[in-house]
Amino acid sequence: MGLMEKIRENFPALGQKVYGKDLVYLDNAATSQKPKVVLDLLNEMYGGTNANVHRAMHKLSDDTTMLYEGARECVREFINAPGKECVIFTSGTTASINLVASSYCRKFLKEGDAVIVSGDSHHSNIVPWQLACEIAGAELKVIPVKDNGELDLDEYRNLLDSRVKIVAVEHISNVLGIINPVKEIIQQAHKLNIPVLVDGAQGIVHADVDVQEMDCDFYVFSGHKIYAATGTGILYGRRELLEAMPPYMGGGDMVDTVSFAKTTYAELPLKFEAGTPHFIGQATLKPALEFAKWLKEGEIGKAVKEEEEKIIEYMTNALAQIEGCTLYGTAENKIPLFSFNIEGCFPSDLAQLLDKMGVAVRTGFMCCEPLMTRFGVTSMVRASFLPYNTLQEAEYFIKCLNRAVNMLR
Ligand code: ALA
Repeated sequence: MGLMEKIRENFPALGQKVYGKDLVYLDNAATSQKPKVVLDLLNEMYGGTNANVHRAMHKLSDDTTMLYEGARECVREFINAPGKECVIFTSGTTASINLVASSYCRKFLKEGDAVIVSGDSHHSNIVPWQLACEIAGAELKVIPVKDNGELDLDEYRNLLDSRVKIVAVEHISNVLGIINPVKEIIQQAHKLNIPVLVDGAQGIVHADVDVQEMDCDFYVFSGHKIYAATGTGILYGRRELLEAMPPYMGGGDMVDTVSFAKTTYAELPLKFEAGTPHFIGQATLKPALEFAKWLKEGEIGKAVKEEEEKIIEYMTNALAQIEGCTLYGTAENKIPLFSFNIEGCFPSDLAQLLDKMGVAVRTGFMCCEPLMTRFGVTSMVRASFLPYNTLQEAEYFIKCLNRAVNMLR
């Protein structure tokens, strides 16, 4: 068995047929398929240890708490956070950004201040900041995107001044697939003592993330894009900032003592984890991240890297050969993610035809309407790959795409 088959056999969903054709799943930037180790844990926990965490003096609750907290330690190690208290469980990237935008801004954002976001931002890295700015009477400023998909760092430097209270940028754009120079962005902001939040929804999957080395103040991501259960996510935050921020939601587990006169709050990380969490889902972050690590190491890691390089080269050349095809995000330092348009073909028509050939891609504005406007379009087709995708699948995709284009023109 080849190494790629060895990887793929872990994913039951990849073996299915769609409309009688072998599934070619290229919608990975939206969500990843799940390996057996994650499915097995879900099954074991729902059918066995299931009991609420942190609350009861009985074995099942203890076992579940161990699995839940074990996953937190695994996340800490995966991103090299300095301590478990800096790793907050949330329901996903969107929840993590909303937490920071609400809590941090409530404390630190005042009338006349400003927030900077990157022009390639997902709606979840735009709207929460707009809401916070509206409440505070602050301004939202945007780092422009260049024609090749890179952020314009000269313009960014011009935007930085003492009014800016936080910068929030994409690590990797979910539309352009470009890896942004987050370290440089952070260094510039830190010269003025401005904290930086990095949206790692795609970054956690495709980059090696070390939050201490990156020196970010917040790093957020979802579990479901990196093989874990849906409804799971992480907010990493610098301890001093998390300590200074007020709680986001009130409820059980986030308190120290409660009286009708006054409530005091639990220590980190529980201060930000009100209510029963998705403890079974969060526990799957451990097998998921261990699996992600396995994909990066040794002969498997080497095979994945080689296949990825071949896919990027093949896809870039093959799309360039299709008449009227525009690829967005052409700068180097790109992950295997390709968003494009083809003259004379509506993206949704292409996606529907591809679907009938067994190929799953995403179309639409991909939760990035301002970025679509920047490129003068309302929609794109996106094919996004993960380590379980093969060059053979990329070749099949291009063959189907050519067929679909010929049907539509
Ligand atoms: N943010 C996810 C995507 O880009 C849903 O598809």
